[in-house]
Amino acid sequence: MSVIDSSDLSIDLEAIASGKVTLQQVLFQQIRTRILKGFWPSSAKLPSTRLLASQLKISRNTVIQTYEQLVAEGYLNAKANSGFYVALSLPEQYMASDQVQVTAERGTDDTPNNGFFAPGVAEFSAFPMTAWSRLLQRHSNRSTLLGNQDLQGLVSLREALHRYLTSSRSVVCNPDQIIVTSGAQQSIAIALLATQKLKPHQRFLVELPGYRQVVKVLDTFAVDYDFVDVDARTGVDIQRIVNSESSGIYLTPSNQYPMGCSIQTEQRLQLIEWAQQNQSWIIEDDYDSEFQFDSRPFRSMQGLAAESGNADKMIYIGSMSKVMFNSLRIGYMVVPPHLVPLCLEIKDALSGDTPALVQAALADFIDEGGLLRHIRKMRRLYEQKYRVMKQCIQDAFGQDWRLVSQGAGLHATIQWQSSVDEITLSEMAQEVGMVVRPMQFYQPLAKPRNYGSIVLGFGNAPIEAIPDKVKVLAELYYSLVE
Ligand SMILES: Cc1ncc(COP(=O)(O)O)c(C=O)c1O
Repeated sequence: MSVIDSSDLSIDLEAIASGKVTLQQVLFQQIRTRILKGFWPSSAKLPSTRLLASQLKISRNTVIQTYEQLVAEGYLNAKANSGFYVALSLPEQYMASDQVQVTAERGTDDTPNNGFFAPGVAEFSAFPMTAWSRLLQRHSNRSTLLGNQDLQGLVSLREALHRYLTSSRSVVCNPDQIIVTSGAQQSIAIALLATQKLKPHQRFLVELPGYRQVVKVLDTFAVDYDFVDVDARTGVDIQRIVNSESSGIYLTPSNQYPMGCSIQTEQRLQLIEWAQQNQSWIIEDDYDSEFQFDSRPFRSMQGLAAESGNADKMIYIGSMSKVMFNSLRIGYMVVPPHLVPLCLEIKDALSGDTPALVQAALADFIDEGGLLRHIRKMRRLYEQKYRVMKQCIQDAFGQDWRLVSQGAGLHATIQWQSSVDEITLSEMAQEVGMVVRPMQFYQPLAKPRNYGSIVLGFGNAPIEAIPDKVKVLAELYYSLVE
């Protein structure tokens, strides 16, 4: 049962003084309007007559008479020894004309971005909810977490992330180089704005096809950029980068999104040297390296650069969205010490500090081994899903479809040579409840291609449902083959 906040009620004394209306009529109209517009929802409890009279500085009798009139006309119910409530159903004659729909048109529970095959979505049902809620509970009554917090992130979390990144991703840093953010998305925005400020007159480079969210930031902040081609077989066009004088590049070097290739060590060293010589920035988005199934994971480029003392142009970005769950909205960036103040200035301007309760719980989750246990479990599960996907695609499509992405992360990238249009296939899949991303989604700059391509996420797909869903995809695909 909700209790109504009546603080927006006020009495127009001038209208009453003019003698055209009585105080009771004004109060009646105000309450009735709020009920009919749905601002005071059905079965919500009204303030007591004593409270409302005192709030409006009018006699309690006036309030009692008004409430009773509203009861008589069917807008309120009176409950003995309890008070007055908005009626469950309102007088019919007013419903059609005045009632305004106040519920949201579409809730987020059902957002299509979480649907079957939606890329980039972690498996939610395997998350250790009980342990996580215990950690949230542990910190929920700490009053020190209620005030303004360190803009850079709680020290406990930065120290925990430092231990995790050092041991799991070979990142070389100290906790004061880590900035906690609300996801990789915010890290990308901060990194792009910072590098742009330091090297304003050159264009930035982004992968094509690539992560759409990067271009959104560049467009929003009117930063000029060029694309660097990525091919599933030959990878990122390294020569194009090292021949350019751009201010920097955004890369997903360990599992290029969405092509699923990686940059080899030799080429990584070439890029690091280019960044040094040209004083350009490398933004390394290491979003899903925890999940590599076919080969040993590459260590971070940041760590590789630090080995030769060349990490001062490296910005490393990570996210908890894949290793935990998407709505956590926690990410982090590791920046060279000289860049910390500027990044904090930008973070301050964009959002201020990051919610503290979740940071405190996350620090414990990492320190007490919960994160690593979960990652190990999920690596096995995602690998199984990947193998099932691969087998089902082979069974249903044979040579017609080529799985071009490496065994890593939460998605599989497919290519075909037939004339089947990827957008049409995606639309047909959507009609039967699947989220199949056409490659064009990742290509803000249209490029002529002689193949069709889609991205299928398997992170949140129940493993036992994958074979049937792939069969449905095959039916749709072959219905389009000429
Ligand atoms: C390339 C890439 N980077 C980062 C992320 C994670 O972003 P965020 O932390 O904002 O959820 C994703 C998620 O899909 C991604 O695909």
